This record gives sequence, C-alpha cells and structure tokens, in this order.
Amino acid sequence: MQENQGQSAIRNFAIIAHIDHGKTTLTDRLLEHTTTIAQRELTERFLDSNPIERERGITIKLAPVRMFYTLDARRYTLNLIDTPGHVDFSYEVSRSLSACEGVILLIDATQGIQAQTLAHAREAINLGLTLIPTLNKIDLTSARVDQTLAELKEVFGIKNEEVSRISAKTGQGIKELLRRIAAEIPHPQGKEASPLRALIFNSIYDTHLGVIAFVRIVDGSVRTKQELRLIASGREVTAKEIGVFSPKLTPAEILKVGEVGYIATGLKDIHAIKVGDTITQRGICEGTLPQPLPGFKIPNPTLFADFFPEEKTTFEELKEAAQKLQLTDASLTLKSIHQPALGSGLRFGFLGLFHSEITRERLRREQGISIIPTKPTVEYLVEKRNGETVRIQNPSELPDTSEILKIEEPVVKVSVFTPREYIGALMQLFEERRGKYQNIQYFGQQAQMIYELPFIELVDGFVDIAKSRSQGYASLDYEQLGQRPVDAVKLSVLINHQLVEPLSRIVVRDKAQAIAHELVAKLKEVLPRQQFAVPIQASLGGNIIARETKPAVRKDVTAKLYGGDQTRKDKLLTKQKQGKKKLAKLGQVTIPADTFIRIMQG
Ligand code: GTP
Repeated sequence: MQENQGQSAIRNFAIIAHIDHGKTTLTDRLLEHTTTIAQRELTERFLDSNPIERERGITIKLAPVRMFYTLDARRYTLNLIDTPGHVDFSYEVSRSLSACEGVILLIDATQGIQAQTLAHAREAINLGLTLIPTLNKIDLTSARVDQTLAELKEVFGIKNEEVSRISAKTGQGIKELLRRIAAEIPHPQGKEASPLRALIFNSIYDTHLGVIAFVRIVDGSVRTKQELRLIASGREVTAKEIGVFSPKLTPAEILKVGEVGYIATGLKDIHAIKVGDTITQRGICEGTLPQPLPGFKIPNPTLFADFFPEEKTTFEELKEAAQKLQLTDASLTLKSIHQPALGSGLRFGFLGLFHSEITRERLRREQGISIIPTKPTVEYLVEKRNGETVRIQNPSELPDTSEILKIEEPVVKVSVFTPREYIGALMQLFEERRGKYQNIQYFGQQAQMIYELPFIELVDGFVDIAKSRSQGYASLDYEQLGQRPVDAVKLSVLINHQLVEPLSRIVVRDKAQAIAHELVAKLKEVLPRQQFAVPIQASLGGNIIARETKPAVRKDVTAKLYGGDQTRKDKLLTKQKQGKKKLAKLGQVTIPADTFIRIMQG
C-alpha cells in the first residue's frame, strides 16, 4: 500500500528496552504528548496495572496503543506495540517486532547496552525495521552519554548524530522523538486488494468477548462478523467484534491493510489462538489459501515444577486457581500428579524461570492460593534399552539405571554482555557450570561472550552468580539450542532405609559423590530428631555412596534449661507443638512438610 497524502499515514513501532531502562515512562510521555490520554487517566491506567508487575518494577507486557500525531499539517496514526521485557518471552518479542516497521532502541544512559537489548535489536535489524536509537535518563548526573554513544557505535555501527537523547521523566527530547517516529519509520507495505492476512502478535481472554487476538493486518482487510480461518491451526472463527486500541478496546467496522487492532473471536479457550498464526478469510478454496506469514511456532515449556497445596488450601482449589490463570496465560501447561508424601498436586510447565516465579506469585496474590513448590527442573530425554524414549520432568520418574541407554538434557546458547574486566571471572563460572566456549567479540570496553550451557546449570542460580562476579555489570540473554547427551545418574535418598523418591536428583556422574555428601549432611542438619537414631543414605544404582546418622531425640527437651525459666520452657514446648502440625510421613519417620520442601528445593 502506498502512503496516500489524503489519508492518515501509519507508523507501527515498538520500544526495545532492557528492564528498568524506562519503556513505561516513555510510553506515558508519548501518550501525554499526543494527548491520547489525559494526565489524570494516565496515572490511573499505568500505575493501576498488575500489582505484581508494579512491585517488581517489571512490565511483562502493556496493551498496544494507538495515538494520533500531526506534523507539518499531516496526520499520523502511531501504533505502539509493546514487547515483553524478559528473556523467557523471546518468541512473543519476535512476533511483536514482525508487526512493526520501526523500533525505538531505548538505552538507559546510566547503564549502557545490555545483553537482551543487543539480541532484540539484532532481531529488529534482521527483520529490516527502522531503528531509532535513543538514550534515556540524560537528566541524571550519572548518565554516561559519551560512553553509551561509543558502545552504540562499536556494537551496531550507529553514528552519534543518529542517536536521540531524551529524559522520559522530564519530557526532554520527546517532541523531537515523535517527529522522528513520523519522519523516519516507513508506512506499512501490503496489498489492499489481496485476501486477508493478519498476524496475531498477542491474545487475551475476556469473559464477554472470549479470546481476543491482537493483530496487524498485513494484506487485505477484515470486517465485523466476517467468517475467518486460522491458517496454522486450521480453526474457523467469526469476528464477533473488531476494533482498535485507543487505548481502550474501541469497536470499528473495518481494519485495513497496515493497521493494528483486535479481533474478538468468542472462543472460550485461549489455547485455540496461537501467537504467530495467520488469520485469513473463509470462503477461499483450499488450493488458493494465502501463504501463512513466516515465523510461526509453538513455544514449548522448558521448565517444570510441581506445586502442592499448603495446609489451608485443597487440591481442588489449587486446580481451579491454576486453570483460571491458564485462561490468561496460554504458555502455561498443567498436569495432575500424585506424590505419596505430599498428596495430589499439579505439574506446571513454564517458558523459563521468570515465568515460573511470576506464576507462583500470581497464584498467591490473585487467587489467594498458598502452595508448596518443588525446585524447577528441566526436561530430560531418556532412551531406554528396550528402544522406548521417555521424557522426564522430575527425577523421581527416571527409570532404573540398568534400563537406561542414554540421557539427553536441554542446552542453551548463552550470550553475556559485560565490561572486559569481568571476562576472566565469568569464564571461570562457565567452566564450573559445564559451559562450552563458542565465541567472544569485543566492542571497545565491552565484550559479548557466547557459551553453550546445560539449561539446568542456568536455572540453578547462574544469573545471580554472574551478576555478583561482575559487580552487577554483566547481563545475560539465552535461547534454547536443543538436547545434548549427558553422562547423568539418578541419586536416590534413603531415610531410615526407606527410599524417599521426591528427594531423588539427576546429577552429572562426576559430581555425584560430592553432591551425595552435601545432601546427606544437609538432611542430617534439617531432619528433626525422632525417637530413634535415623540413618540417612545416598545411593547410586543401589550402592550407598554417602551416609550420616541423625541421633535420637533426648528424653526431656527442656532438661538443659536449668529449671527456673518457665517462659523459655513454654516457648520451646509451643514450638514443638507447632512443629507437629504439617507433617510429611516417610514410613516411620515424620518430617514437617516445610522441612521436606526445603530439602527438595536443594
Ligand atoms: P520494566 O517495567 O521493567 O520494563 O521497566 P521500564 O523499562 O518500563 O522502566 P520504567 O519506565 O518503569 O522506569 C524504570 C525507572 O526509571 C523508574 O523509576 C522511572 O521513574 C525511572 N526513569 C525512567 N525514565 C527516566 C528518566 O528519563 N530519568 C530519570 N531520572 N528516571 C527515569
């Protein structure tokens, strides 16, 4: 479609920014400068977003928003499409970017370029989008403007004069930035007269309208009540309502080529609409169906954790709450499980660690559910001697060692962006965590290190350690690479000679002995004394490789309190009583449920 002088020109764009670099504040300023939302409503709208996001200071995703802007007597429709600011959602980022012609590459001048910004900006460049490099927070005295400009030049070849300098807080530079959005980002291409092709870049669930797909019309147009078809899923739907984000969902009669808006489908299951799928019109015969838009895939969960209801919650309540969450989170998977010590629970599948943490908090805060979570683990692929292949999401499911031919674990490609002086410390960390060196590239004072790393090593505290070894300067991004063989074994735990399956772990053979000793020592420390001495053992393929003994309880727990102090005695007895409340029974041995969980969390 050509940009017609008589019509409003369209500018579809996103803001690429690292967490805290100021994306939400800049969005507020753009809304304000385009008078899309009055100042009073603006505060309500954005501060009133998800409380978890607000508290953590991390925006997962804002709704898209349409703004109007006039420059030199010409009217522009600006569609700002948000991209999730976290590495777990890189597929969603790629789809959102595909719906745009341009991006604001927003960099906090006090922080410089971060690994994730680097990855997303490269993706935008590969998609051929127009980049508007922008330095934010220039009002702060700690802003390192020259250094960040040098980084932009080194990393992307961006010249100083191409970089906008703004303060999203004070509004400095926003007017000029808006001018650049209108002047530099191209009007969308696309064929007006062709059959409809609309890219789904997000979806939400609404009780009245059902699943609402957020779309970018790539070719053709869509009207209310039109009969539609989703190319990848083959599903047929009717456009119950269509409209634009102004920023509230505002119904419209038609969405034309190049426009961004929504299509309400009335469907009750959010999983029926997949991000990245192409919507076309029905009534086109099979042979002439338009080509689906490129890049569609279904992101699989990569991390799994079992959640059990805590004392005051029943399993049914947990299940209901989880299903409610799933209505608004298409990437969450659920499966019922049962564990002898803890009863019925749910296995959750997540896109990554952050996704798992957010889900846990949403369950607690939005649904009022308290849960006992197990430590998240990755999915192992186990080839058995009988030719069968099984997927293991929990060590307790690992078949007997004698049955196993091969175990494969997921591996990720990790990119760390860091000042040069921390390269040595980070290399050492990668070595300790079974990382495989791939590449290192220098950009002035900065470097990008690329390693292959087993995913389990990454989710097991890697990011925090990398941060502390680089004094907070290194930032990290990763992508899944696939499965790789690993020489792993199942480490089992026996308490009072009884196998406690939930405490099993999958460990690398070389590290098994050390982990076994650490584990039994920790168990001895946290296990409450019983009426008898309890042996704690770690076994590998039936052989005991580590052992500790928890001594029996003393007859009178208050005996050592030299008589007199009754308050102290009472306190201790109350404590003992409370300790008896929530127990996990392991044969003759009883453990408080929370102790059990602490052990499982490693
Ligand atoms: P996520 O929600 O994590 O994606 O963060 P964000 O990129 O949306 O950042 P946000 O807009 O929440 O800003 C992070 C912090 O930086 C907030 O405390 C803002 O007030 C502050 N901030 C944003 N822009 C500026 C700026 O130009 N100057 C100053 N001084 N502070 C800013």
